Amino acid sequence: MSKDKRILLIIGGGIAAFKSLLLIRILAKRGIKTTCIVTKGGQEFVTPLSVGGLSGEKVFTELFSLSDEAEMGHIELSRSADLVVVAPATADLMAKAAHGLANDLASTTLLATDKRVLYAPAMNVRMWAHPATRKNIEILRSNHAVFVGPEEGDMACGEFGFGRMAEPETIAEAIETILSGKTEIDALKPQPLKNKHILITAGPTREPIDPVRYLSNHSSGKQGYAIARACVDLGADVTLVSGPVALTPPQGVNTVHVDTACDMLDACEKALPADVFIAVAAVADWRPVDNTNHKIKKCKDALPPLCLTENPDILRTIANSKNRPKLVVGFAAETDNVVKFAQAKLTKKNCDMIIANDVSGDVMGGDNNTMIVVTKEDADYHAETWPLMSKELCAQTLAKKLVQKLVRRP
Ligand code: C5P
Repeated sequence: MSKDKRILLIIGGGIAAFKSLLLIRILAKRGIKTTCIVTKGGQEFVTPLSVGGLSGEKVFTELFSLSDEAEMGHIELSRSADLVVVAPATADLMAKAAHGLANDLASTTLLATDKRVLYAPAMNVRMWAHPATRKNIEILRSNHAVFVGPEEGDMACGEFGFGRMAEPETIAEAIETILSGKTEIDALKPQPLKNKHILITAGPTREPIDPVRYLSNHSSGKQGYAIARACVDLGADVTLVSGPVALTPPQGVNTVHVDTACDMLDACEKALPADVFIAVAAVADWRPVDNTNHKIKKCKDALPPLCLTENPDILRTIANSKNRPKLVVGFAAETDNVVKFAQAKLTKKNCDMIIANDVSGDVMGGDNNTMIVVTKEDADYHAETWPLMSKELCAQTLAKKLVQKLVRRP
């Protein structure tokens, strides 16, 4: 089926480069020809000689090579294949490709190509989770790039997590699927949350006092948005009910913008049924009873009467509704007795899981989070403390936890 097809394989500088040698052999067995570019970094791990020996073709390494240009110019090289594959795709290669840098043969080829590009990322787990890499991947995706992996597991650097390059067989499968024209981008990603509807609240709420003033809090919405992105990445249908924040909604998420707690509850109820509800929003506890249409005037001798009433508890309302999602996850921002308060909240709000975080540091508005996951199985509480991680990585870890829970409770 893929016979007589040709791929251009760019081998980047990562320890996983040895797997690309196996990839060339697997592709050859399937009748797919491979032309290779090996970057400077790549040559630290595999030699052009071994790459050429396996592909049976000339290997390209230099941008400014008279002989190479005479045989095949870099523009022609970028267009002569049916598909461009970058494996291992390092953080550096993807950053260059996302931003259109072209200072060596690999990056120039990626900028010049008119073919689809498949990336098989390989890097340290922190590098993979770093906001810079996340943004670069979003840019590449919006440019129709396709990704296979990375996978979770032990890494050459001794850490554990997402970052291992996909196995050569898996990359070869992805290549064949794309070459067969059968697939669109998402078909290549593992989709354990496919057909699951996940409803998420995020950000603060804003409770008007008058047309120009309001009550609110410092929530940035970053954690809720990251969770929405992580769930979509695993194939979920996500509805994100967001208070006012300065963030761009993640691609592929159905985002509903609201201001007040009452509107947030209304939007959530309208979005049901859902398989999972995750209440990340920092909902204002109170709202002014009177929200006048007129700006309250400053008065020299008296403070304005500000009478407050309690806002609805969105989490508790959804957790007790007849449409209750199978899994209800709440957040508990505390400054002390974090676990004890989280356990109490779990019961009081009828949740399956409470993610407690100590907000005495710079969690609110910051980029990192420490999470303690409190659950109750039978009569016992379990508290699992996750190390300090970026909010992106917290979100990915939580999304994986949801997969486990949903599998156990289909
Ligand atoms: O009671 P507390 O505000 O600490 O509870 C926090 C959890 O409850 C969070 O998951 C938050 O999103 C949710 N919550 C809510 N509606 C409120 C107050 C909190 O959904 N009015």
